[in-house]
Amino acid sequence: MSDSKLKIAFIVSEVEDIIKTGGLADVAKALPLAYEALGHEVCIVMPAYQVVIDQFNLTQHGEFTSSMRQFKRYEHDLGNVKVHLIGHTCFDREGLYAENNVAYSDNGERFGLFSAAVIDVLQAVNFQPDIMHCNDWHTGLVPFFVKHNQQQFAEGFFANTKTALTIHNAAFQGSFELHEIPMMQPYHQALHFDQHPHINMMKVGIAHADKITAVSPTYAQEILTDLGGHGLHYVLQNRSSDLKGILNGCDYSQWDPTTDPFIPAHFDINDLSGKAKCKAALQAKAGFTDSPDTPLIGMVCRLTAQKGFDYIVPILRDLMAHNLGLVIVGTGDPLVCQQLADVSRMHPTKFKFIHGFEPELAHLVEAGSDFFLMPSEFEPCGLNQMYSLAYATLPIVRNVGGLSDTVVGIDQNPQEATGFVFDSPSPEALLICIRRALLLYREQPDLFVTMQKRAMETKFTWSDAAIQFEALFQRALH
Ligand code: GLC
Repeated sequence: MSDSKLKIAFIVSEVEDIIKTGGLADVAKALPLAYEALGHEVCIVMPAYQVVIDQFNLTQHGEFTSSMRQFKRYEHDLGNVKVHLIGHTCFDREGLYAENNVAYSDNGERFGLFSAAVIDVLQAVNFQPDIMHCNDWHTGLVPFFVKHNQQQFAEGFFANTKTALTIHNAAFQGSFELHEIPMMQPYHQALHFDQHPHINMMKVGIAHADKITAVSPTYAQEILTDLGGHGLHYVLQNRSSDLKGILNGCDYSQWDPTTDPFIPAHFDINDLSGKAKCKAALQAKAGFTDSPDTPLIGMVCRLTAQKGFDYIVPILRDLMAHNLGLVIVGTGDPLVCQQLADVSRMHPTKFKFIHGFEPELAHLVEAGSDFFLMPSEFEPCGLNQMYSLAYATLPIVRNVGGLSDTVVGIDQNPQEATGFVFDSPSPEALLICIRRALLLYREQPDLFVTMQKRAMETKFTWSDAAIQFEALFQRALH
């Protein structure tokens, strides 16, 4: 049975190449394609945001009714995978989840409607899935609706369907009062409320999915604890025998320094000279002087506390006393933007904050930096540290989540080291770790190059991840 072909519906709120706000979208493209490459029949179901309809000039492929509302269905192709996009006026907005950093107040209703409509759209297109692979809180109600449908129609369309929920970030849970989600009123009984009718969509998903995964083995352990569980540890502990950590892969077709169209020069493990050209280009972009021997640290991320800014910002001035360059690229929390912009203005020859997010820039930072900074407070998986390794840019990371599973610190294991790892979520620990990296760069250049080459040899493939999911799905089905 292990080589039998599965029908997998991948349910998600964003997909790379269609619309993206974060790492979730990278996974939502790569993993379905990896399933397809293993021979499974796959479709993706996502909301039809108006911006997507406009950008791709999508035409309607039919209408269907769900929760007593009319929905439109659109289609798009992602490689060989069919994408069904569910259209409703609640997705005719500028943002996906928020505008000006403020979440839409009716997100519960929006993603509740989407999740219920998934059940109906799959029937409309006659895609009868063995597995519905759901992702994060936006799709947390899907496993509930599948179970509900199975109870109502024992011989129905979803009678043999199993559900899996992948947790990409347990800090975002989609928590609402029942009255904020009018479409859920009819399910009042089925949801077994006690006194207080409150819906936490991630929790509902965890309680009803047949299998639960987290995006790295270490994060799967962390979310079972009081400290790392974002308040979900009790409900996860109840499901721990169905919880598994499966490490995300890296899309090496997009992140390959030998072919990357965004970078000014290519390089590989045998010849790193192209990387020096990328460094010069990044220094020029940042307005720094061209200085091959000055260590250059890059960082690309959403500007949120999760990414460690509570301990980066306090040490910026200390760092400016060193001979280095630091480039931070990102968008997000206005206060963090302000703080970074202030320091950038005061130290224009050493620190550049670029407020924005263009793929060209992200690729240039990965290729042109000597070190990549990723000191996250928590990190379910993290993708940028994998890109850094592929580009011989040594990661400086905190020992959490997927960062622990992908980077080997010089002081943990010198023979296998690919980066620099610190433990305590404090400015002091981060500063010591960065100084350790700078010292090695200056004093042990040969070791630095050895680590760069080892980093480039480290591979995390989507096909490995897909094989692990396949085994998990088979267990759920038998
Ligand atoms: C979320 C997590 C990140 C993970 C990504 C893809 O953005 O914060 O760690 O890599 O999802 O799973």
